[in-house]
Amino acid sequence: MGITADLVIHGGLLVTADAVIAASVAVKDGIVRAVGAAETMPPTRESLDASGMHILPGAIDVHVHFRDPGYPHKEDWQSGTAAAAFGGVTTVFDMPNTIPPTGTAEALAAKHRIASAKAHVDFGLYGLLGDDTIEHVPALVGGGIIGFKLYMGNTFGKIPTPSTGAMLEAFEVVAPTGKRISLHAETNSIMERRESRMRAAGRTDPLAHLAARPAVVAIEAVSRAAAIAEWTGARIHILHISSAEELRPLRDAKARGVDITGETCPQYLFLSTDDYDRLTGIIRVNPPVREPRNQEPLWAALADNTIDLVATDHAPHAIDEKTRNDIWTVDCGFPGVESQMPLMLTEVNAGRASICDYVRWSAVNPAKVWGLYPRKGAIAPGSDVDIAIIDLGRKWVLDDAKLQSRSRITPWNGRKVVGQPVHTLVRGRFVMRDRALIAETRGWGRSIHSIQAMPEPKPRNIDQSMSRILQSPSARSPVNETA
Ligand code: NCD
Ligand code: ZN
Repeated sequence: MGITADLVIHGGLLVTADAVIAASVAVKDGIVRAVGAAETMPPTRESLDASGMHILPGAIDVHVHFRDPGYPHKEDWQSGTAAAAFGGVTTVFDMPNTIPPTGTAEALAAKHRIASAKAHVDFGLYGLLGDDTIEHVPALVGGGIIGFKLYMGNTFGKIPTPSTGAMLEAFEVVAPTGKRISLHAETNSIMERRESRMRAAGRTDPLAHLAARPAVVAIEAVSRAAAIAEWTGARIHILHISSAEELRPLRDAKARGVDITGETCPQYLFLSTDDYDRLTGIIRVNPPVREPRNQEPLWAALADNTIDLVATDHAPHAIDEKTRNDIWTVDCGFPGVESQMPLMLTEVNAGRASICDYVRWSAVNPAKVWGLYPRKGAIAPGSDVDIAIIDLGRKWVLDDAKLQSRSRITPWNGRKVVGQPVHTLVRGRFVMRDRALIAETRGWGRSIHSIQAMPEPKPRNIDQSMSRILQSPSARSPVNETA
C-alpha cells in the first residue's frame, strides 16, 4: 500500500458497536490507515502485540469537572486528564462551573489555553448558558465550545438557575446554532424549599440530601426542558439520569421526535440507598443516589436506547470536603473518569451487557450525539487513533490511594472489578502504557470543536421568538398585514 506505518497493533480483538473481530490496526500520523488481517498490514516502524487483549474506541466522557481554573486543590487539567488516560478515556467534555464560569469568550479562551497546555487527552469545553450569558451565545459558539450547559437546579459552584422564561429565550437563541444544550435537570424551587425545611427541622444526615431532591425534581425538570426544546427546536441532552421515573418524559419526548438524548452514570447503576450508611458524605452527589428499585430500569433504558450513553460526572473534591458530619456542608460529587470503564467491564464479564453495547454507550453514541463520529468513537480507516487496549479478564481492586485524580476519595474504594485498560492512545500516541502515564504527553490533548459537524439546525416557532417579536412589532401585527 506504499506507506510505512508508525505503529501496527496486532493480535487483538477489535470491538465495534456491532462485532468483535480479530484484526490488526495500522496507524500513520495519528490516523487509522488500515484495519484487517495481519498479513495485509503495511511495513511499520513499531508494533504492539495485543494478544489476549480487546481493542476499543477510547471512551468519550461527556461529563467531567476538571476544576481548572478555580479549584486546583480538587483537580486540574493535568491530573484530570491523567485520570482519563488511566480510565481508557480519550476525549472528555469539561463543565463550565469553574472560577470564572465558562460563560464569556474571555473565560473560554483562558480555559482553552490552560487545557491545551496540560491535557493528556482530547477535550471539548462546555459554555455556560444562563440568564446573564444569553448575550454571549454567539461569542461562545465562535470561540469553540462543544455545546452548552444549563443548570436547572443548584449544585456545586452555585451557578444561578435561570427562570423558565430565561430558559425559553436561551433555547431560542441556541436553536439556530445547532449546538446541543446539556441540562442539569433538577428543579431548583422544589429543592430549595425542601432543603430549608429539613434544615429547620434539624436533619443533617446523608439521607436528608436524598429527601430534599426526590425524583419529582427530575421528572418535572426533564418534562419542562423537553417541552421547551420541542417548541424551539433546540437540541438537548439530559445529564446524570438517576431515577426510573424521569425515563417516562424522556421516552415520550423521543417518541414525539424531540432531539433529546440522555446519559446515566455508574453511581446510579451500581449504588443505592443501601450504601448511604457505609459511605456517609462520600455518597453525596447531585442528583442523589436513589432507592435500589431504580437500577434495573436504568439498565433496561440503556439496553433499549432510551438512555444513549454512559458518562461519569467526574466531580473531584478534597477528602476534608467529603467527610464533614453535617451533610449540608459536604461538597457534592466524586471522581469517576478513571473507574467507569472497569466498573462497566465488570458487568460485561457478568453478562449483563455485551462488550459491543459498552462501546456503543461509552464511545459510539457520545461521538454521534455531538457530531464527532466517525472521526471519534470508531476504529476505521480515517478515524483518529483514540484507542483503549484492555485486558477484559483482569481481576483487580479499585483503590483510591492509587488514583491519578487529585481527589482520592470515591465510593468505589475497595471494589472488586474485572477488566482493566492497559494502554491508552490519543491520536496515535500512547498517553498511558502498561499502566504508566507517559508524562511527555502533557499538552498533547486538543480541543475537538473544530472537527465537530452537527446536523443542520432545525429551529421552530421562530416567528414567535423574543428576538423576532422585538425586531419590528408593528410590521408583524395581523392588523398591519391586512391594511
Ligand atoms: C458536580 C460538581 O461537583 O461540579 N457535583 C455533583 O454533585 N454532581 C456538579 C454537577 O454535575 O451537578
Ligand atoms: Zn450536574
